[in-house]
Amino acid sequence: MKVQRAAVIGAGAMGSGIAQVLSQSGIQVILKDVKQEFVDRGLANIKRMYDSRVKKQTLTQEEADELFRLIKGSTDYEGFNNVDIVIEAALETIELKLAIFKEIDEICPSRAILASNTSALSISEIASATRRPDKVVGMHFFNPAQFMKLVEVIPGVKTSHDTVKSAIELCRDMGKVPVEVKECPGFLVNRLLFPYMNEALWALTEGAGTPQEIDDAVEAFGLPMGPFTLFDMTGIDICEHVNQFLYKEYGPRFSPSPLLKHMINAGFLGQKSGAGFFIHEKGAIPKKGEPKKINPELSKLIEAAKKDAKTDAKASKKFEAYRVLLPMFNEAVYALQEDVIEPSDVDVAMEFGCGLTRGLLTIAEEKGLDWTLNELDGYHKDLGERFRASWLLRKLVRAGIHNFSKLEKQPVAAR
Ligand SMILES: NC(=O)c1ccc[n+]([C@@H]2O[C@H](COP(=O)([O-])OP(=O)(O)OC[C@H]3O[C@@H](n4cnc5c(N)ncnc54)[C@H](O)[C@@H]3O)[C@@H](O)[C@H]2O)c1
Repeated sequence: MKVQRAAVIGAGAMGSGIAQVLSQSGIQVILKDVKQEFVDRGLANIKRMYDSRVKKQTLTQEEADELFRLIKGSTDYEGFNNVDIVIEAALETIELKLAIFKEIDEICPSRAILASNTSALSISEIASATRRPDKVVGMHFFNPAQFMKLVEVIPGVKTSHDTVKSAIELCRDMGKVPVEVKECPGFLVNRLLFPYMNEALWALTEGAGTPQEIDDAVEAFGLPMGPFTLFDMTGIDICEHVNQFLYKEYGPRFSPSPLLKHMINAGFLGQKSGAGFFIHEKGAIPKKGEPKKINPELSKLIEAAKKDAKTDAKASKKFEAYRVLLPMFNEAVYALQEDVIEPSDVDVAMEFGCGLTRGLLTIAEEKGLDWTLNELDGYHKDLGERFRASWLLRKLVRAGIHNFSKLEKQPVAAR
């Protein structure tokens, strides 16, 4: 189904961004929120983005005006009876999403796809509030939605192949890079990113390096920013929430470092509070390569976290970027083992969702899967369950297979 008319629910950071990218590809959009002031704020954000494109001369004023006119603000469901898709980007609570999906299921035409931009809630559960679970799908955009290319397209247990195909087609029409990810906690990008960030916390707590040293080592490896800069940018409280959620879902592989809890208790939430791992005097994140000022309170909090940690494990080696990359890579292989994603999509997702300039699976293939397994086993012996290698990796090494493309179900060109 070719989408011509869409509705977006929630005119906040994500909803306004999504409404804008829809309008940019010539789709009529209804942007709904609960109060007129929220709708107006969303529309003003979009207008500002279009104005900046005119300034940068990527659009003429007339083109920008025409695209902006495609978006109509609303505080009710008027016009929803004639849309091809609804993308919900309201607040992240299951009760609210269930109520919204029940309502839109009653109002929207039977052909309409009902998508959610949830970061972590179950698509299958959201779909259960409707009489069309086959037409409910996750479309997880990244922030800011106007600029980030990746969209994780997440089928729930009852989502039809046609719905997934239409969602993927819509992403491509919007100039996005869609990747199909079967429903699992954290979907793909957060599921892979958090073991890496969590491992950086454990390395810091052990004294393997300072936040600056660990960030520098990771950036030198080709990542757009180090884990501690990313913690501060994302918000320590949000990261702790995701860390605990993934730990609850996946168990010991995701054992969270106690350090974030101590930082939150001390009021260090990252950039938004003026200090996290680093001091952000003007609320700004230093650019790559610029020296950062480490939070002077951090060493006390690290000592407190050390006392809390239920392990006395010690890294046998000096810190190197592989220490934090291996858990991310290992989690990717767990996702392959569970058939959550196709191998060729892992590197695409991490490139367009996190800016990794070198493919995660490609790095492992270049180093050799046997080398990678050996490293994981070494860290597992020293540091425990966070490094337990997936059985798929062990199977591949035993079989003498050194290339993940052997696992591809369909040739990439056929998809
Ligand atoms: N911010 C991110 O980085 C990010 C990234 C990916 C996904 N998400 C997900 O996107 C969703 C929205 O996040 P956000 O950051 O844009 O939040 P936000 O707080 O900026 O905006 C949410 C908007 O939804 C509105 N809303 C609440 N109930 C509503 C209802 N019943 N009908 C219509 N509108 C309603 C609120 O008034 C608010 O304007 C969440 O599910 C979040 O998990 C967020």
